[in-house]
Amino acid sequence: MEKMLIKGGKRLKGCVNISGSKNSALPILIATLLTDDNCVIKNVPVLQDIMIVVKLLKHLGKKIKFHNHEITVSQSGGLITEAPYELVKKMRASILVMGPLLARYKKAKVSMPGGCEIGLRPIDIHLDGFKKMGAVCDIFHGDIKIKTSGLIGSRIVLDFPSVGATENLLMAAALSQGETIIENAAIEPEIADLSDFLVEMGACISGIGTRKLIIKGVKKLSGCSYSVMPDRIESGTFMIAAAITGGDIKICGTIPEHNDFLTEKLKVSGCELKNCSGVINIKRTGKIFPVNIETSVYPGFPTDLQNMWMALMTISAGESLIVETIFENRFKTIAEFSRMGADIKVKGNCAIVKGVNSLKGAEVCASDLRSSAALVLAGLCSAGETSVSGLGYLDRGYENFEHKLKKLGASIKRIEG
Ligand code: EPZ
Repeated sequence: MEKMLIKGGKRLKGCVNISGSKNSALPILIATLLTDDNCVIKNVPVLQDIMIVVKLLKHLGKKIKFHNHEITVSQSGGLITEAPYELVKKMRASILVMGPLLARYKKAKVSMPGGCEIGLRPIDIHLDGFKKMGAVCDIFHGDIKIKTSGLIGSRIVLDFPSVGATENLLMAAALSQGETIIENAAIEPEIADLSDFLVEMGACISGIGTRKLIIKGVKKLSGCSYSVMPDRIESGTFMIAAAITGGDIKICGTIPEHNDFLTEKLKVSGCELKNCSGVINIKRTGKIFPVNIETSVYPGFPTDLQNMWMALMTISAGESLIVETIFENRFKTIAEFSRMGADIKVKGNCAIVKGVNSLKGAEVCASDLRSSAALVLAGLCSAGETSVSGLGYLDRGYENFEHKLKKLGASIKRIEG
């Protein structure tokens, strides 16, 4: 089993280039199911999750060429409409094939994705929306069988601004008959990126970036070429890496405003930040002040950065409160932080973090994708050596993570454990 070995204490310095967004590339690649034409998707990060969605698209009948961060999707015959459990269980975003397959082939059979390390992850909001559009669902033997005589545009009010449900319903509505209104839609930047891609294909969408999306269904969508936006969670991870090591780094090829909320919190914690034309300059020279956060939907504090923020607060000069409101099980990394000497108490969805002078290196194990990055960040500021296992999670969401950190001066290497 591979492990990451980190010798803490190095201040990160230099420039890091941000890869394309995993959570934007996944729905955009799946949206290519909406057309038989060729699509060229650029700035695609080379990640495990991307390889799984490529495998899924091939399983459904697409031809894929992946070279140099560019994926060409083409098709010679028809598509099958079944997404098998062995692919869906590896990556929950596979559930997003439902919208395009329903819209084009009037049916889909997708394995129930089941829960994951961070929560139950139900898909009731997705299915309720499809039913509103005239689909009939049947859950049988762990599979969702869904069919329609033809999706009809309708007004859908999401119970919760679910990112995945917004993406699934948006893709279905693009090829439905009539007008669909999605109210209480998610407004994460990945939704706008997917919407822009669909418009490039010929979709008719207004309200992009707002909680009310209006989609006029069209008869056909065409192929196009599109470049995926930069990964705001990777940017945020490196911003916190600079803060936790007392470093001074430039984060290049990002969209600074995607991390406005985090930027403000980092300033309060004692960092200096400057944004100029797509580059975030961040440095910390003094102590880390304790800052409370509560995760929320965009534009609030992203749940995907909660574990990294906690790592930072473990060495702050006081006590901070971290409230997780999106997922029910995103505090599993606390046990590992405690092995490194952190002082954290949990009450329900609240974590009270009392800063200590320094963490101590230890052997720790990641419990999910963002937990793995947070443990690496904790290792970067610890006295002594930290070994992080569970790198399979890390490789799902971070491209060349250790190489980018090493280039910034971190003492980090991947070994066969
Ligand atoms: C997306 O997951 C991201 N994944 C997640 O990133 C991210 O944490 C999440 O959005 C929130 O921002 C991708 O984009 C591939 P949701 P998604 O539907 O779409 C509940 C990472 O680390 N809910 O907005 O699954 C759900 O249980 C991953 O990159 C329902 O109750 O998130 C959760 O509590 C982790 N019913 C909340 O909504 C539903 O039908 C947010 O889920 C759907 C969701």
